[in-house]
Amino acid sequence: MKFSSVLSTVALLFISKSLAITWEEADAKAREWCADLTNEEKISIITGRENMTGVCVGSIDPIERKGFKGLCLQDGPAGVRFGKGTATSWQASINSAATFDRTLLRKVGEAQGNEFYQRGINFALAPSVGIQRAPASGRIWESYGEDPFYVGECGTEVVKGIQSQGVIATSKHFVGNDQENNRGASTSNIPEQALWEVYLAPFYRLVNDAETNAIMSSYNAVNGTYTSENKRLLTDILKDKMGFQGMVMSDWWGLYRIDSFGAGLDMNMPGGKYWGPDYVGDSFWGEHIQEYIDQGIFTQERLDDAALRVIRALFKAGQMENFPEVNLYVDTLTEENIALNRKVGADSNVLLKNDESVLPIKGVKKIAVIGKDSMPANFCEDMRCADGTLALGWGSGTTDFKYVIDPLSAITERAKKDNIEVVSSGEDNSEAGAEVAKDADLAIVFVQADSGEEYITVEGNAGDRLNLDLWHGGNELIDAVASVNKNTIVVIHAPGPVNVPFLDKVKGVVFAGMPGQESGHAIADVLFGDVNPSGHLPYTWAPREDYPTDVKYEPEYPDGGEKMTVYDYNEGLFVGYRWFDKQGIEPTFAFGYGLSYTTFEYSNLEAVMEEDGLHVTLTVTNTGDVAGAAVPMIFLSFPDIVKDYPSRLFKGFDKVMLEAGESKQVNIIVDNHDLSYYDVDAEKFVKPEEGEYTVFAGSNARDLPLKTTVLANGECNSDEEVSGNVENDEDSVDEVDAETENAEDSADEVDSEVDAENAEDSVDETALKKRAYKLY
Ligand SMILES: *[C@@H]1O[C@H](CO)[C@@H](O)[C@H](O)[C@H]1NC(C)=O
Ligand SMILES: *[C@@H]1O[C@H](CO)[C@@H](O)[C@H](O)[C@H]1NC(C)=O
Repeated sequence: MKFSSVLSTVALLFISKSLAITWEEADAKAREWCADLTNEEKISIITGRENMTGVCVGSIDPIERKGFKGLCLQDGPAGVRFGKGTATSWQASINSAATFDRTLLRKVGEAQGNEFYQRGINFALAPSVGIQRAPASGRIWESYGEDPFYVGECGTEVVKGIQSQGVIATSKHFVGNDQENNRGASTSNIPEQALWEVYLAPFYRLVNDAETNAIMSSYNAVNGTYTSENKRLLTDILKDKMGFQGMVMSDWWGLYRIDSFGAGLDMNMPGGKYWGPDYVGDSFWGEHIQEYIDQGIFTQERLDDAALRVIRALFKAGQMENFPEVNLYVDTLTEENIALNRKVGADSNVLLKNDESVLPIKGVKKIAVIGKDSMPANFCEDMRCADGTLALGWGSGTTDFKYVIDPLSAITERAKKDNIEVVSSGEDNSEAGAEVAKDADLAIVFVQADSGEEYITVEGNAGDRLNLDLWHGGNELIDAVASVNKNTIVVIHAPGPVNVPFLDKVKGVVFAGMPGQESGHAIADVLFGDVNPSGHLPYTWAPREDYPTDVKYEPEYPDGGEKMTVYDYNEGLFVGYRWFDKQGIEPTFAFGYGLSYTTFEYSNLEAVMEEDGLHVTLTVTNTGDVAGAAVPMIFLSFPDIVKDYPSRLFKGFDKVMLEAGESKQVNIIVDNHDLSYYDVDAEKFVKPEEGEYTVFAGSNARDLPLKTTVLANGECNSDEEVSGNVENDEDSVDEVDAETENAEDSADEVDSEVDAENAEDSVDETALKKRAYKLY
């Protein structure tokens, strides 16, 4: 172990505030603590008493007799909300996802967790682990994309990071809230296998791997029953089958009946029946719970259990002693947080196009920076306006910005170093843009599209985007500039895919997502080559009509009512790239796509089935002239006995920094859970014992040059590398079909009993412990 890593391990242990205590230990302490609670006190612990006029968006009253200080709950995934500029305005979660870097995701969780901790906030209302079903869905930037495995991996790192700081992570929204329109009056009708393998999948990981202490139910119904009152989901599946030991709270005013308590919801947030000060103290829960117990409708055990679950989560998090007092305005906007936001911002830039290596900027004298999105932002409450550069979407998932670095300032500052002149047009005005662009060596057009949460409508978009077009005439602006400047680069700030009719007219495109307050620095770092872009798309990018699903825009129904918009999840397992594979549709950019200023080759793919899962190794080589980070990705085809299944599933990745010319071996374990499918008849996950898995490796869902097969029963394996090294250049999206053919020709299987023996001997104990799943 290198000295520096010893030091950082020590530092990590030191800052880690949560004592390493098990659920069993927390349970014993909580039972003892709860033993003398009155029913009134138990009800107070589970019913919020806040009308959003206090500093926390949710609060639980103190119990002085017990020395219980009460609880503070606060949004959200982009950091502490309502901090009046004292807290970091982090990048959107979708940007964290685009880094494909577990280390960075963990660091973001730790840094955010620490900001909540210092403010005495018990529950961070994050992360969001929804699945991006439809690109127009308003809150996709608050989560991690379209793939259940990947969303689970991101959420796991963030939850571990937050909880390492002694703050409870509230994983949300459980489950099936995949659009904003009528979210509180819609039912997501999800086929059983898709429910388990797509929508519950990230929660399964967060419960088992990350031990999330809290989960938030969603606004919508699943199969006609609102999730907050859905006994099957909350009690039978989450608590009984998944073994969740923590507590479940409602989304804000997202419980519509007292029945929610009986169904297994443990905390009512924020407590009142509906939004607004008049409803404080008038709760569906509160004293009504006692009335229902008295009438024999609810059991005493349910109340004991709900209170116990809250207190147990607090003991587990180490919050029952020495937790800081609530103070929302502690200054935590530190140099370290700012640097981390900038790093994630830079590393999350996805280079979508770079013809003739137009980027990084070099050998130019004059740059034109064009578009209102390059300019300083005007901040409106909860980001309810898109005026200036777009750093985050709108709604409860956003933060109060102290500042945002605008791209124009950052580019101007950086250009000075190289004696480059910067001219600009800070409006979305085609004529003015073309005018400044025509004499420049290079023109960079900043464009945007925004989305957010449904309680705010921005430019006609009630949360969900009305369409995937750029806002404010972005396409016209790009056309005008590209028609006068052949070196035009487009930078897009948006939550997800946008239409790109300009793609063939420009040389470069960078998708910058929503990078948070260091936005300008993060894009300048990549444009000038100070950082080599290594971001990858956590979703498929295509025209709207090519996706399997879409947002439904319906007239508003009252929240929690009987009349619901029906969302049939007819696509089942075929979300995102799985649909594009099944239908043979070529996306504009595949899941995982992202270019670099260097090139990578993948080789030497081998896969061995061992007791703890599939051990995959491959070699990644930097074949270009500059250092850069590669993201090797593993996809699996399941044995034929698994019917009606996606042809390939994303199951593993790593991020590897490589000097020019350097090679590294990458080891990836696909654990037994990820080698299993949900058998609807057996009502459990099953790992196939016959047939073979095909292992694909490469740089994105449509660039998988390597392939090998491995027998499901692990008795023997084929480790033949099939195709040679294929350059990860931008044309390689087309290569997948050709490679697949090659692969089929030469996929000889190598029977080797020696390998099987080795496999049995060499089970890695730690990996086994870490991934010891009960398959149910
Ligand atoms: C939920 O609805 C879907 C779609 O109608 C159906 O396939 C599925 O079986 C239902 N699940 C349950 C548990 O009823
Ligand atoms: C509820 O809101 C009103 C103002 O709208 C405020 O006076 C009151 O203190 C609030 N109650 C609580 C418990 O925060």
